[in-house]
Amino acid sequence: MLRPWKMMLAERIDPASDTPLYMQIIHALIHEIQRGRLLPGTFLPSSRELATAFRVNRKTIVLAYEDLIAQGWLASSGTRGTIVATSLPDTGVQRAQKRLRQASANVAAAEYPFKDAASLQARTWDLKLDEGSPDGRLFPADMLGRAYRSAVRRAARENRLLYGDPRGSPLLREAIATMLRTQRGVMANAENVCITRGSQMGVYLAARVLVRPGDAVIVESLTYQAAVGVLEDCGAKILPVGLDKHGVNVDEVEKMCRAHRVRAIFLTPHHQFPTTVALQPDRRLRLLNLARQFAFAVIEDDYDHEFHFESQPLLPMASYAPERVIYVGSLSKLLLPALRIGYIVAPPKVVDALAQQVMLLDSMGNTLTEDAAAELIEAGEVRRHVRKVAQVYAQRRKAFAATLSEQFAGLADFDIPDGGLAFWLRFRNLKALDRIEARALGLGIWVAPSSSFITRPDATRGLRLGFASLTEQEAREGIRRLRAAAAA
Ligand SMILES: Cc1ncc(COP(=O)(O)O)c(C=O)c1O
Repeated sequence: MLRPWKMMLAERIDPASDTPLYMQIIHALIHEIQRGRLLPGTFLPSSRELATAFRVNRKTIVLAYEDLIAQGWLASSGTRGTIVATSLPDTGVQRAQKRLRQASANVAAAEYPFKDAASLQARTWDLKLDEGSPDGRLFPADMLGRAYRSAVRRAARENRLLYGDPRGSPLLREAIATMLRTQRGVMANAENVCITRGSQMGVYLAARVLVRPGDAVIVESLTYQAAVGVLEDCGAKILPVGLDKHGVNVDEVEKMCRAHRVRAIFLTPHHQFPTTVALQPDRRLRLLNLARQFAFAVIEDDYDHEFHFESQPLLPMASYAPERVIYVGSLSKLLLPALRIGYIVAPPKVVDALAQQVMLLDSMGNTLTEDAAAELIEAGEVRRHVRKVAQVYAQRRKAFAATLSEQFAGLADFDIPDGGLAFWLRFRNLKALDRIEARALGLGIWVAPSSSFITRPDATRGLRLGFASLTEQEAREGIRRLRAAAAA
């Protein structure tokens, strides 16, 4: 992109000044280069544009540009125009960058009322063993492009390109309600659905409407850190309870309910995060009975419902206790995380409260993306896509398990997950896990920190390794490097 914006120059030209106009223009441009606003390689406005902006004759600009080129400040880029020279000696750029860094250091040092957030990590790995993402490379981009085109046309035709319903696109709310009724037994109509930017925002909104500072919220001792972060941000008092291979320990939940006034429980019953196990039906029923008895809400985060490889998946808890459950889902695994589409299913009164939160946060979602997703669902494209990638993922899951067995025999154990897109690796000796975590990045591998899943010190750390986003060959290489990192 050459000149996407019209350049606004701070310096004004003073026709009454003794300094000739073309000299004033030269000073103005040098000033912008020195203060780091015009970076090396930046295209300058055409002489015609700048002449209009400064209200001077175009020849004056041409003269100024020629002079600056002769001085080495600017360079001609052939027919494409004039750029700031890329070979400038110590201009103001370095100083300007330093000032910028200083400014952010001052922000951190000043008394802002936020905790020091972990800085976002620059990508330093070449293979990411993620926590269970889909493979975006398998997604038919053209199909999405067509859906967008048709969504834009339809929204324009129906005059829906303006501010709209904070609960989301009516087309998508309807399409999701239909999908949930037919596929998951969740009895929802459009009025029960609020569209969100990913299930992450779904959990955030659910926490905002449910939790007041000091409220007790139960989570598992191994769980999804970002949900705990949200709950803590709302002021929740976190009560961790244990879990085993059948899911959350319901006896401990009951004990907590007798000792505290519990407001909610956060669960991932379909494929427990991070351990992948399914919460067994008897425990689901007992939990819902406790929820009724002690009047707490269940936040059911069903973040990757659609990929299940063995047996018939269990229906969501929301399908048999819609009045007690705030059900959070996502199209991130079904379609793409980059679309940022999630949803919440709840009683209409709760959906209204959620919509009020959306109004405060970002007013509404992206109508075009939501309409495009609705089209893909309604046209059966989503079903076809899932059927196709599920076969690829089933094969990758098998291959991943074979490589893990081969590389980690005697070092770590795992069960092949019935569903979801990740394995949970339990180490016989945590020192091997520590070595992996200390060395992985140095070997070009990203894995989620094992400490990030833990909410109670007695929980045993492990590795959650996604198998779907990498080809079999990439996964083999990743696991091989992890094994090398684990070596004493
Ligand atoms: C347990 C869990 N919940 C929520 C999310 C958020 O996903 P998204 O916001 O993309 O729907 C994730 C992401 O992987 C997750 O693992």
